[in-house]
Amino acid sequence: MKSFAVLAAATLALASPIAKRESGGILLCTGANATGTCNYTVYPLDTCVNVTAPFLGNTNTFAPDGEAFACYPYAMACDVGICTSPEGCTLGAVDFNYEHKYNLSAVSWEGVASFRCFTKTTTTTVE
Ligand SMILES: *[C@@H]1O[C@H](CO)[C@@H](O)[C@H](O)[C@H]1NC(C)=O
Ligand SMILES: *[C@@H]1O[C@H](CO)[C@@H](O)[C@H](O)[C@H]1NC(C)=O
Ligand SMILES: *[C@@H]1O[C@H](CO)[C@@H](O)[C@H](O)[C@H]1NC(C)=O
Ligand SMILES: *[C@@H]1O[C@H](CO)[C@@H](O)[C@H](O)[C@H]1NC(C)=O
Repeated sequence: MKSFAVLAAATLALASPIAKRESGGILLCTGANATGTCNYTVYPLDTCVNVTAPFLGNTNTFAPDGEAFACYPYAMACDVGICTSPEGCTLGAVDFNYEHKYNLSAVSWEGVASFRCFTKTTTTTVE
């Protein structure tokens, strides 16, 4: 009995950290290469998220953590200005494989003000 209980507890402890892995996790940092102040948060998909201090206007690392989703960073806050369509005023889709995700300054996008993420599987990319 005792060894069974220990085994069950160990299995639970192992299973819980990976059981609820969701898409939508993004690492934001003020510095390039994940330096400076960072914030890793899992965001809901298909929802516009305003970038807030200290990252507003100063986001050099924008690193989605999985292959299944991508994000459109926008130059303006959600619901503001002329960027009303999902593809308007955006850098373009940033995903796990985006080459400048650890240095948005390289493409002059450190001023990202908001973003929206979406699952790749339900989105048709036309480029
Ligand atoms: C940032 O990462 C890139 C790619 O790994 C590397 O070439 C560069 O030297 C790094 N820069 C700093 C300041 O860490
Ligand atoms: C990280 O960002 C999220 C979403 O903007 C915010 O709710 C949370 O408070 C932030 N955490 C820290 C430690 O700044
Ligand atoms: C984002 O910020 C803008 C400007 O402050 C505001 O009008 C809008 O309601 C915000 N949207 C969200 C989803 O927080
Ligand atoms: C990021 O890009 C900027 C602009 O090209 C460059 O000056 C800076 O050295 C880069 N930083 C890193 C850590 O690679």
